[in-house]
Amino acid sequence: MKVWQIGAFGVEKLEFVDRPMPEPGPGQVLVKIHAISFNFRDLMMAKGVYNPKLKLPRIPCSDGAGEVTAVGPGVTQWKPGHRVAGIFMQNWIDGEPTLQKIKGALGGDVDGVLAEYVALDEKGVVEIPEHLSYQEAATLPCAAVTAWNALATANLVPGATVLIQGTGGVSLFALQFARLKGARVLGISSSDEKLQRAAELGLDAGLNYKNVPEWDHWVVEESGEGADLIVEVGGADTLPRSLRALRVGGTIAQIGVLTGPTPAEMLPIPTLLHKMARIHGIYVGSRQDFVEMNKAISLAHLRPVGEDFPWTHAREVLARMETGGHFGKLVMTVA
Ligand SMILES: NC(=O)c1ccc[n+]([C@@H]2O[C@H](COP(=O)([O-])OP(=O)(O)OC[C@H]3O[C@@H](n4cnc5c(N)ncnc54)[C@H](OP(=O)(O)O)[C@@H]3O)[C@@H](O)[C@H]2O)c1
Repeated sequence: MKVWQIGAFGVEKLEFVDRPMPEPGPGQVLVKIHAISFNFRDLMMAKGVYNPKLKLPRIPCSDGAGEVTAVGPGVTQWKPGHRVAGIFMQNWIDGEPTLQKIKGALGGDVDGVLAEYVALDEKGVVEIPEHLSYQEAATLPCAAVTAWNALATANLVPGATVLIQGTGGVSLFALQFARLKGARVLGISSSDEKLQRAAELGLDAGLNYKNVPEWDHWVVEESGEGADLIVEVGGADTLPRSLRALRVGGTIAQIGVLTGPTPAEMLPIPTLLHKMARIHGIYVGSRQDFVEMNKAISLAHLRPVGEDFPWTHAREVLARMETGGHFGKLVMTVA
């Protein structure tokens, strides 16, 4: 079977190679992957920034959807033909996270899904919503579960204000889930055209952060007292500003590091305490979170947003992600 692997760091060095077909062992299912989606993590992983000590060669990507084609001894839950997606952390099935549960992340700790077939533990997959194509379902395991858990960090009442940053994978899922909760959603983006597209998905008001870098003032004006929840994907350069854009008693769901991991500007500690802010770190979520999110997606008939590329274009897709030209998810059909 064909796989993409990181043999050496660098997007241009990704290798398209043959590997033996995996066999499902006891308690495992064999999944024929039909589509995968990329996350910013996959770009950092390929560049060697996420984990410079990553054991190579490594098959990247956590997010894939496909069809069960065979099951190993002892598997009772799945049969050939079932439509499934892998879960991000293969060991975090439910409950609170522990050090042990957050090990086993696909495309990092263990080989990922950028392959024609993968063998996974039967608890390492979930059924995908019926109304979604494989391409749509492949967007869910990391970005959607992360956004779902970000929305759960604050006790949002209808009419509460949520701020999303940019129009990438996590942020557009956060927009869609926030709308389901009856929140008013504000968004910042580098592009007026993307803000227009986000408005079609339900964004209530948008601001171009290239034109107006002081977007915290705008958020406070738009919301009255500041946002109730900020879905923070920017990291270093945006966190201090997010704190200023937050209402008293508000929550920041800290997810991303798009602008780097360490704030160049000091975190304003007096603001942090005067606002009685809660900064809640998010690391994707459990299998149980994924299953519950899928129920909501099915009931709301929610559809992920993204663009689809051919199986041979892994390097091109990651290069597109690096330039930030995309809107929503970057997907690849495995054929
Ligand atoms: N903690 C977790 O569990 C977890 C899970 C998933 C992702 N993440 C992290 O979350 C971040 C987003 O991931 P993703 O996969 O959604 O990325 P993505 O799809 O590549 O989205 C990136 C988008 O963010 C926007 N952006 C970039 N710089 C910005 C800035 N300074 N201010 C505001 N927006 C900015 C841009 O949108 P515009 O072009 O519209 O400006 C860009 O297209 C990454 O750092 C990723 O590693 C963490």
